[in-house]
Amino acid sequence: MLEVLPLLPADPILGLSAAFREDQNPHKIDLGVGVYKDEQGNTPILTSVAKAQRVLLEQETSKTYIAPQGVQGYIDGMLGLLLGKNHPALIEDRVAAVQAPGGCGALRILSELLKRCDGELTVWVSDPTWANHVPLIGNAGLKIETYPYFDKATASIKFDAMTDCLKQVKKGDVVLLHGCCHNPTGADLTNEQWHVVLELAQERGFLPFVDVAYQGFGDGLDKDAYGLRLLTSNLPEVIIAASCSKNFGLYRERVGLAVMVTQNSAVRKSIQSQIQSIARGIYSMPPSYGGALVDIILNDDALRTEWMDEVEAMRVRMLSLRHLLVDKLAEKGANKDFSFVTEQKGMFSYLCITPEQVRLVRDKHSVYFVESSRVNVAGISLSNVDALATALVDVL
Ligand SMILES: Cc1ncc(COP(=O)(O)O)c(C=O)c1O
Repeated sequence: MLEVLPLLPADPILGLSAAFREDQNPHKIDLGVGVYKDEQGNTPILTSVAKAQRVLLEQETSKTYIAPQGVQGYIDGMLGLLLGKNHPALIEDRVAAVQAPGGCGALRILSELLKRCDGELTVWVSDPTWANHVPLIGNAGLKIETYPYFDKATASIKFDAMTDCLKQVKKGDVVLLHGCCHNPTGADLTNEQWHVVLELAQERGFLPFVDVAYQGFGDGLDKDAYGLRLLTSNLPEVIIAASCSKNFGLYRERVGLAVMVTQNSAVRKSIQSQIQSIARGIYSMPPSYGGALVDIILNDDALRTEWMDEVEAMRVRMLSLRHLLVDKLAEKGANKDFSFVTEQKGMFSYLCITPEQVRLVRDKHSVYFVESSRVNVAGISLSNVDALATALVDVL
């Protein structure tokens, strides 16, 4: 029976990684997969995480099942990080939350929750958005539509077109927003624009669904939560999918959080039971390990400070790489102004070059990134930036 299913094409990013591995050019450059890399191209274990691992090894006395909602200290620590300590919704007992296997797990179980609320609702995602949003939300059986977001011609957000579209969204529909460090474009809403989105949500009655996968990589841990905190402070309901993959470097441990800010404590209790029953029907309960590490880090003053310093170091390094690339491109006489790259936030940038140019830079110079022109800024280094700029100028 299994033979009825055909072979599916390889995932474009994973296919790109395979092509990179096979490339024999010793000067090849990988700007594809979205993981943080240091100057040597490694994705190290953060020192705060390494210390927390040692603490956990000493402290953990059992591998019995954990509670269905996950590690409570992790959930509380993450809610503080996302919403800020003493957020009114926390004080008023309006926030339901479960630890989830990665940001992906959170996106999926929240989509299942939306489906239970109203099987007919539409989730509006930005054009473009992270490619995996489509299966994570769509496979739960929800309809997906796009709202205009980024204009490649001007390398900036089409805010008027975005708001015109959001004005048409039906009451009860859901609008997915990237909390910070938009993937794939790196173009984030300004604080003023978040206020406009809030007003639209109030007028139209749509539910914001905020995906926070890069907190700390844009302008800093608190500043990156501006939009999220604005919405959660002023709307009765907001849902959030958070990930610790990038800012804790815990990719393979699969640590995420699904958060539902509800209108009152009674709804909070029902929604908590619903989301746990959804998780129970898919994977029962989340893996404990990564959440236990984040619990240790966030709830210990010294480790928390050390981790915050590490996040800041990653942020500053990526920002300096943006400037370095733009300066190098100008120095080499690029016939295009790339200064927008320094305005973009986080791990990704759209270089706003054509798919033909992306293919050419790969085939001629072994520089690998996806055809949309999204690059992983963390893949740039002091040692490869010169070659990268030369290659880009060559194909422009
Ligand atoms: C926008 C966005 N959301 C969510 C995630 C989820 O990541 P993970 O499931 O690895 O925690 C990612 C990861 O790349 C992402 O880019």
